[in-house]
Amino acid sequence: MQKGNIFEHVLDQVNLVDLISGYIPVERAGRNYKALCPFHSEKTASFIISEEKQLYHCFGCGAAGNAINFVMQYENLDYLDAVELIADRYNIDISEFSSSNSQKKTVDYKLFYAVLRDAANYYYKNLRTAPQAMAYLEKRGLNYDIIRTFGIGFSNDKWTDLINRLGKKYSVATLEQVGLAIENKEKNSHYDRFRNRIMFPIVNPRGKVIGFGGRVMDDSLPKYLNSPETDVFNKSQTLYGLHLAKDHLHEKKQLIICEGYMDVIALHAAGFQNAVATLGTAMTVEHARLMKRYSEEIVVCYDSDLAGQKAALKSIDVLEGVVEKVRVVVLGEGLDPDEYIKKYGPEAFKEKVDDAVTGTAFKIRHLRQGFNLNSEQEKVTFLSKASEIISQVKNGFEKNLYIDELSESLGVNRGLIANEVYKGSKGNHLSFHSQKKSRNIPIVENDRRALLEEQLIVYLTHAYSKLTDMQKTVIGAFEFSESRQDIFSYLMTYFEGNDRFSMQHVIEEADLDVSSALEQILEKHTDEESDIDVDLVLNNILLMKLDDALDALRKELKTTDDVPKIEREIQHKLLLKKELTLKMRHGK
Ligand code: CTP
Ligand code: MN
Repeated sequence: MQKGNIFEHVLDQVNLVDLISGYIPVERAGRNYKALCPFHSEKTASFIISEEKQLYHCFGCGAAGNAINFVMQYENLDYLDAVELIADRYNIDISEFSSSNSQKKTVDYKLFYAVLRDAANYYYKNLRTAPQAMAYLEKRGLNYDIIRTFGIGFSNDKWTDLINRLGKKYSVATLEQVGLAIENKEKNSHYDRFRNRIMFPIVNPRGKVIGFGGRVMDDSLPKYLNSPETDVFNKSQTLYGLHLAKDHLHEKKQLIICEGYMDVIALHAAGFQNAVATLGTAMTVEHARLMKRYSEEIVVCYDSDLAGQKAALKSIDVLEGVVEKVRVVVLGEGLDPDEYIKKYGPEAFKEKVDDAVTGTAFKIRHLRQGFNLNSEQEKVTFLSKASEIISQVKNGFEKNLYIDELSESLGVNRGLIANEVYKGSKGNHLSFHSQKKSRNIPIVENDRRALLEEQLIVYLTHAYSKLTDMQKTVIGAFEFSESRQDIFSYLMTYFEGNDRFSMQHVIEEADLDVSSALEQILEKHTDEESDIDVDLVLNNILLMKLDDALDALRKELKTTDDVPKIEREIQHKLLLKKELTLKMRHGK
């Protein structure tokens, strides 16, 4: 007997608070629970878990959902894998669903991992029968220890060597599914993807081989050939070397991210076992989250040629959205980490890492290279662009440090730069804002109602204490639309017990629906608060209410037995409306 679907079945049996507590420290906060959000970096907890609703919501980054969504996002899993993981962890029996589960194609992970491991073992053993490959690795400075640590191997220069080796144990279709064999449709046959290459197995943090990178031993192209994306290999979620690095982060939770396989290997060999690399692809948010799971600080150490530095700029932006501590190493002379260590040794590299600069400092440095600062005009352009970068720094103290630095190094008055920086962060916003507001678009009735009610809400949150008793009474008598009624009721009660509004307080205390709706409204109307004329808003709402009432009365007129009574009421409302309009016209 199958009841409901697998998702409900699983969700029914886990408690979201328990589940999240298994990942991050969670604290009770009034009727909800709170935590530092695991999906963006923050110092004050704005990640709220509602036990009643079994939902979470981050007021900082907007992440939200149920237990399955949490596991998906945290573990980088797809929906069904997340369900399986939860079921596994909480011993929830989902067998009754598995046969009828047509939404998921069945992937035999065990088989795939086994093929890939056997292939890696074969390449590894094969290396010793290939003197030219051994000679190449020796020339690149790799000793036997490091070859073993990384499981480096060699694929022979034959078309079906691996297929012949593994063909007895696995079907060629399986070899194709994991990316080791390629089909030749014309000849209706298969051949090895990797031939005559140094083989670098790519291993996931659980120690499973999931793919390979293969390098030529000369200058032929492509220099590297990688496994295609398969059911077990996803480049944007994989970091080369992480399976090793993750066990070397006890003393210092720091990862060094570089660009190449050889960089990671050279760094590990030189004692920097916290090095990892992307797989020839741009850094993704998933990469950043993956690193964040293991470390507190990420040091970007890309090739110091122009392409590497450009890639570094992009990575910084991705990383800074996820991790708090990001620094950048600049090696110079166009060197990559591997070449730098060969040339200057591990000590010098260590100093470089210690001297790594913040993302902002790196951006300014990079910007500076494009200007001739002896020219006054270029200096001015540089300063305004640099100020723009600094204006994006959130921490005010840090902002001032950059202003100081810039002022000192350029010999420009500190106040001038500060002005420019703060203009950048506020000014733009205001001008954008007034442009948006001054336009005279006719507003449809419902939008108008929503806008007025939202403005009133915004006003209440920052100026409740300024309301007169009369205004409070008027507001108390209103009936608001939709979810806004709950927000009003909540705010009215809130201000009975509190003098000042605190969003943090609200998200800890209020029902999740109320707090998230409120937060959305506040977000939408940022910066408008000081422009709101509460009397105007209230009068407009009153006017709308009167129109509603008139509409209703006119309808009633058609069906009522007491026409004179309804007509009197209509007259009365019309009078009220006239008075109100007059009052509004005279600005009171
Ligand atoms: N890469 C790739 N395909 C290519 C070239 C590069 O996938 N055709 C990826 C590889 O992951 C490589 C990384 O991009 O490690 C960086 O490229 P590069 O700097 O050229 O490689 P290195 O690791 O420095 O290798 P080597 O020192 O052997 O040149
Ligand atoms: Mn290199």
